[in-house]
Formats: sequence, structure tokens, C-alpha cells
Amino acid sequence: MTGDTADMLDARAAFQGAGHFGPIAEAVARALGSFSPDSAVLEIGAGTGYYLASVIDASPDSVGVALDVAKPAARRAARVHPRVASVLADAWRGLPLRDSSVEGVLCVFAPRNAAEVARVLAPGGRFVVVTPTERHLGELIEPLDMVRVDPDKDRRLAEQLAGTFSRVGHEVVEYSMPLSPDAVGQVVAMGPSAFHRSTDDPRIAALPAITPVTASVDVSTYVANG
Ligand SMILES: C[S@@+](CC[C@H](N)C(=O)[O-])C[C@H]1O[C@@H](n2cnc3c(N)ncnc32)[C@H](O)[C@@H]1O
Repeated sequence: MTGDTADMLDARAAFQGAGHFGPIAEAVARALGSFSPDSAVLEIGAGTGYYLASVIDASPDSVGVALDVAKPAARRAARVHPRVASVLADAWRGLPLRDSSVEGVLCVFAPRNAAEVARVLAPGGRFVVVTPTERHLGELIEPLDMVRVDPDKDRRLAEQLAGTFSRVGHEVVEYSMPLSPDAVGQVVAMGPSAFHRSTDDPRIAALPAITPVTASVDVSTYVANG
């Protein structure tokens, strides 16, 4: 398991830096809610660290831990914010944190290890999970042969967390992004489609100046059972 490549991280950072996923970052902050000063928040599969940096920045005494299995991600997240530390680790092999040591855990488009999240979350701490809906990037999937969102994902997520967590909040965030051909190229280059096709695609260059593309994600908030 090596995770995302440096090229994928660069594309993702450029896309996030342009603000296209800003409403998702705002929803993640809403779902996490307020946490006590001096507390820590972990992001699993943090990638660029974009979502973690935005919640840590809004809470002046908090610290963040960005965990990712990919070296280019860990390097990038180490620079994302002065109060974010970066850890290179495979979430499936356990989280290198003490029991009850964090007040929040974020998992955005990334794998999650429910038992380990329950172990590291402090009592009452929140676990925020963001998954794409079937409509996410829908306008690009067929024309550009991109990897489809698995329609069974929601059911599998609920199964993975059942017994360990209860869902206490849920929001579908859906909006249209006006994307240039360059931004569409970044979308292709930053996701799983980058693994199996060239991003130097004449169909992207032939797109109009702006293509409206749907962003659609499910933001769920969980707390650990008893
Ligand atoms: C689709 S990216 C999302 C990154 C980030 N959350 C975001 O939305 O910008 C998934 C991330 O999970 C990481 N990842 C994949 N498997 C992992 C694992 N077993 N442990 C930790 N990180 C993992 C990848 O390297 C990648 O950075």
C-alpha cells in the first residue's frame, strides 16, 4: 500500500487551492463543531492536509495530526500549517496515537479503520466522514472514462461503523463548480482515474472555457458508542 503519488498530490493541491472544494471544507468544520482549546484533531488519509489545516486554523490553540500512507502526502502535509504534524503510516496497521488522545477525527475520501478511530477518540469526540455521492463529478465520468463512485459505498460505510459508532449528524453538500479545462485536468489527475489513463487527453483540451461540474458529497458525523 503506497497511496497517492506526488503528481496526484500536486493536482489535488492546485484544485483545492483554487477553492473548488471550499464548501466541503466548511461542511467538515460544521460537522466537527467546536472542540476544547489545546485539543488535537487527526485526519486519516490527509493527502494535502487541506481539510485539517482549515479546521486547525479556525481554532487558535488546537493542534492537528495528518496521517497518510503516501510519502509525498506526508511531506506536503508537514508544511500545510504550523500547528499540523505529519505522520507517515498505514491506517490499516493501527493508528500511532495514544488511547483517547484526540477530540476529532476526519476522514475525507479516504480509508477508515473504525476500531482504531474509536480507540484514539476522547469520550464525546467526533468522527467526521466524507464520501462522494453517485452524482459527484457526474458530468465528467462518462465523457472522460473516469472511475465511477461505487453506489454500494454508503451501505458498506454504515456496516463498517455499526456497533462501534452512532451517526449523530448528516448533510449532503451539493453544488455546481464552473471548471476550466485545466481544472478538469486536475480532477482527472488527482483521483483514482489517474492510475489507469493518461491525463494528456485531447477530450479535455476540447472542452469549452467553462464546464459546470457537480460536487456532491455526504458528510456524516459519528460518536463512539458507550
Ligand atoms: C482520495 S485521497 C484524499 C486525500 C484528502 N483527504 C483530500 O480529500 O484531499 C486518499 C488519501 O488516502 C491515503 N491513503 C490510502 N490508503 C491509506 C492507508 N491505508 N492509510 C493511510 N492513508 C491512506 C492516500 O495516500 C491519499 O492521500
